[in-house]
Amino acid sequence: MGYKEVYKAAQDNPEQFWLEQAKAIDWVRAPEQALFDKGGDLYEWYADAQVNGCYNAVDRHVENGRADQAAIIYDSPITNTKQTITFAELQTRVAALAGALVAQGVTKGDRVIIYMPMVPEAIEAMLACARIGAVHSVVFGGFAANELAVRIDDCTPKAIIAASCGLEPNRVVHYKPLLDGAIELATHKPDACIILQREQEICELIEGRDIEWEAAKALGTPADCVPVEGNHPAYILYTSGTTGAPKGVVRHTAGHLVAINWTMKNIYDVDPGDVFWAASDVGWVVGHSYIAYGPLIHGNTTVVFEGKPVGTPDAGTFWRVIAEHNVRSFFTAPTAIRAVKREDPKGLEVKKYDLSGLRALYLAGERADPDTIIWAQDVLGKPVYDHWWQTETGFTIAGNPAGLEALPVKIGSPTVPMPGYDVQILDEAGHPMPAGELGAIAVKLPLPPGTLPTLWNAEDRFRKSYLTTFPGFYETGDAGMIDEDGYLYIMARTDDVINVAGHRLSTGAMEEVLAGHPDVAECAVIGVSDPLKGQAPMGFVCLTNGVNRPHDEITAECVKRIRDQIGPVAAFKLALVVDRLPKTRSGKILRATMVKIADSEEFKLPATIDDPTILDEIKAALQTIGFAKRVTPKPL
Ligand code: COA
Ligand code: AMP
Repeated sequence: MGYKEVYKAAQDNPEQFWLEQAKAIDWVRAPEQALFDKGGDLYEWYADAQVNGCYNAVDRHVENGRADQAAIIYDSPITNTKQTITFAELQTRVAALAGALVAQGVTKGDRVIIYMPMVPEAIEAMLACARIGAVHSVVFGGFAANELAVRIDDCTPKAIIAASCGLEPNRVVHYKPLLDGAIELATHKPDACIILQREQEICELIEGRDIEWEAAKALGTPADCVPVEGNHPAYILYTSGTTGAPKGVVRHTAGHLVAINWTMKNIYDVDPGDVFWAASDVGWVVGHSYIAYGPLIHGNTTVVFEGKPVGTPDAGTFWRVIAEHNVRSFFTAPTAIRAVKREDPKGLEVKKYDLSGLRALYLAGERADPDTIIWAQDVLGKPVYDHWWQTETGFTIAGNPAGLEALPVKIGSPTVPMPGYDVQILDEAGHPMPAGELGAIAVKLPLPPGTLPTLWNAEDRFRKSYLTTFPGFYETGDAGMIDEDGYLYIMARTDDVINVAGHRLSTGAMEEVLAGHPDVAECAVIGVSDPLKGQAPMGFVCLTNGVNRPHDEITAECVKRIRDQIGPVAAFKLALVVDRLPKTRSGKILRATMVKIADSEEFKLPATIDDPTILDEIKAALQTIGFAKRVTPKPL
């Protein structure tokens, strides 16, 4: 069967299609029904089944002849370490860590926060939770203590698993003080913290709460896999929304296993035994689906890479890892390729390595700009596949099903909807738009298995965020179009989410932090174009009457505030003091117009603008920092 037949089969009879795909998973009790309609536009998959995620990712491979195959290859140019962990070794390590959690009183359904850098122990921590039915919530290391505290209070973990430090090329990230600070800030307190002491920084442990990794294992006995219901949450992953409060995306166990297992062959075209590498971070959804679970469930070797595309030590690192570990399919964010291209525009580093084993490069996480795709195709001589998805969906909404049938690539399009996704372009009133016309991208309910059933403890917010604007549809928050051939194009976000170096950030959250500055009366944060990171956040602040301090002092404090309260990952470095913000007559800040001015793009003066002269002031302020070079606002 080709793509069209498979897609149609999933549309015509989802029940049969997804029960068929479920056969690739080892069940404690196999599902008899795929889709469960809970009413009110809520759905669950395989709720009648019993299964264990860790068993499918680890134990079954040990039992089925892959005991000595590498499960994880850890490659850390930052610490000059390489390590291979076989499936048999992984089973022993994970069972022991699961036992450590049990010894701390963690049982099925309890939450465990994982705050770790890119080391194999991070994957082991996720799998240890899955083994005993605990629900993990991984928090990206680039977030500040405050963000960690918000997540601790939202998911109320019984335990936290963390490392003493993370390593960025230019500094040691002191995780432990961040963790201690977060626990101090949070209202909820975990009972225990299991701490991996890295040799680069040994941290102090708080007696009665913190336990060193191996010591924690010694307190327990290796734990067996605990069967969980198909609709048992495997994990919660927080992602940015419009406001400062992150959304806790819930992933149910069975749908997640079935869906991502399906993608490994059909999208990424790897067979069990092949090496698969996603150069991302365990803190993001890409890390969950394609560093941890996907490859392991499918019997692939996964690469855990602790490094950067450039500077660790050079722009050839990616190609070295691919050649050395014989990576067959490679996945990263366009920004990483842009970083490599900037350092090595002629692709000379590529020529130093034997990349004959590499089949294709997959890009996601942000818009893949044509220059980057073409450059990568040229220097690698391999197909480059853009694919579009979100934390919420856990796997590709639109992509090129290369393992099923490689469709012709149209640069600028992530290709076509994957089985189970009925993607439609809607106008503001929810009517379908004709081919080629721009609108909101929505997916007709139900979503396929593996996608979010709800938000953690926030069903109302789930409905409001995703199900209300277009009744009967899931609102993706992206805008775009579908062409005559059914290819999808992703053009922009419809909300206040921006994408900085493939990291999803909320401008609303940054505005909340800036508004907390004692001298700031009003503010706006927008995402301006950045040649490396795609977008960069930029803040505009209006000062409280009577504040007379130097502006650069205030903007430096704003930058520090965001770094301290959200984290370095926000990459907030641009802030300007302005007298007034442009608004509509009803008082809405014209952020989209500000973006156009900053990016020197043509724009139409909004008909509802209150005072157009403010745009000139914004432009003048932007020009002082090298933005808004060309365009003069045009009167209507
Ligand atoms: N822990 C702590 N700090 C982190 C971190 C982590 N895990 N990851 C990033 N940071 C810090 C960085 O050190 C940097 O701090 P600085 O302001 O002190 O320099 C800041 O957060 C911004 O990081 P980043 O946006 O990654 O920028 P960069 O300049 O360090 O690197 C790239 C630029 C393009 C090389 C880098 O963004 C990259 O590799 N991107 C790939 C993105 C990706 O994999 N996304 C996942 C979705 S698929
Ligand atoms: P995240 O949930 O962090 O993975 O971010 C998801 C968002 O990133 C999407 O809603 C898009 O806005 C953007 N995104 C992800 N992949 C792509 C892509 N291939 N093309 C364009 N935008 C993308």
